[in-house]
Amino acid sequence: MTTIAVTGASGHLGRLVIEHLLTRDVSPADIVALARTESKASDLAERGVTVRHADYDQAETLDAALEGVDRLVLVSGSEVGKRVEQHANVIAAAERAGVSRIVYTSLLKADESSNPLAPEHLATERALAESSIPATVLRNAWYLENYTGQIPQYIASGAVVSATKNAKLSGASRSDFAEAAAVAALQDSEGQTYELAGDTFTMSYLAEVVSALANAPIQHHRVDVEELVTGMVEGAGMDRGAAQFWAAIDTSIAKGDLHTESTDLADLIGHQPDSLEDAVRTALESD
Ligand SMILES: NC(=O)c1ccc[n+]([C@@H]2O[C@H](COP(=O)([O-])OP(=O)(O)OC[C@H]3O[C@@H](n4cnc5c(N)ncnc54)[C@H](OP(=O)(O)O)[C@@H]3O)[C@@H](O)[C@H]2O)c1
Repeated sequence: MTTIAVTGASGHLGRLVIEHLLTRDVSPADIVALARTESKASDLAERGVTVRHADYDQAETLDAALEGVDRLVLVSGSEVGKRVEQHANVIAAAERAGVSRIVYTSLLKADESSNPLAPEHLATERALAESSIPATVLRNAWYLENYTGQIPQYIASGAVVSATKNAKLSGASRSDFAEAAAVAALQDSEGQTYELAGDTFTMSYLAEVVSALANAPIQHHRVDVEELVTGMVEGAGMDRGAAQFWAAIDTSIAKGDLHTESTDLADLIGHQPDSLEDAVRTALESD
């Protein structure tokens, strides 16, 4: 019996990793859902999955949480700026607990990307390489949900606004990324780094697809970085620092940092990942 633990089980991706483990006939008794907010994972407990409290900021919770765990899927934390230390806490606790492998969800091309989210992922990859535990690194491209979550705004404003210079970027659904994590945890993938992505598209194509499927006039409105920041600050009331952070992501997309032709995702999950059209349809149907 191999016990597989998944962090962030109260979040979107972690929960989906557990769903894919269950779909692949892993017994609920062999899965440990690690959650900072255990109440959000109570339905998993009802299905026989062991739910344990794990807070990346509280090392003492991590020792108890990882007891008896063989393989760990470390879903990257969501608190930007705190993640290097948080992930280091998890890796250290995993070493103490005798975990035999860690699967980590990183970012596409983390070692060369100018995406402002890349440095924390790269630092975590390095911490894993320096640890005693063999690791599998899943460098995830953009979630398609980053955009499909904004469909109501696209429809209301008639625009997809970006400073991406209409460069290509690659994405996949959270479910496909989660399935890759489940597969990577189940198969021998020690020492591997995968660049994971499905569909490749541009912001103009995104506007076209949403427009066609939602039957609403939507166009790609290309702006420069300063205009984008001003729009977020004056239009959406965002703090300037946060707006600059999000705009820097568009700058990195403009450089091609989120684009890849890698087929690692399809190869790992054994089927074509969801397309942009699939994701837009799913989002529109769930409205
Ligand atoms: N590639 C992309 O496009 C993309 C987009 C968004 C996010 N991400 C990354 O992928 C990760 C998973 O995405 P998601 O959609 O599942 O995000 P999510 O739904 O926000 O889930 C984040 C999870 O991290 C947990 N978490 C946060 N801080 C924690 C802490 N101190 N200790 C323990 N757990 C903590 C949250 O627990 P609570 O339920 O207690 O808050 C939640 O379960 C994100 O955290 C982020 O690193 C990637």
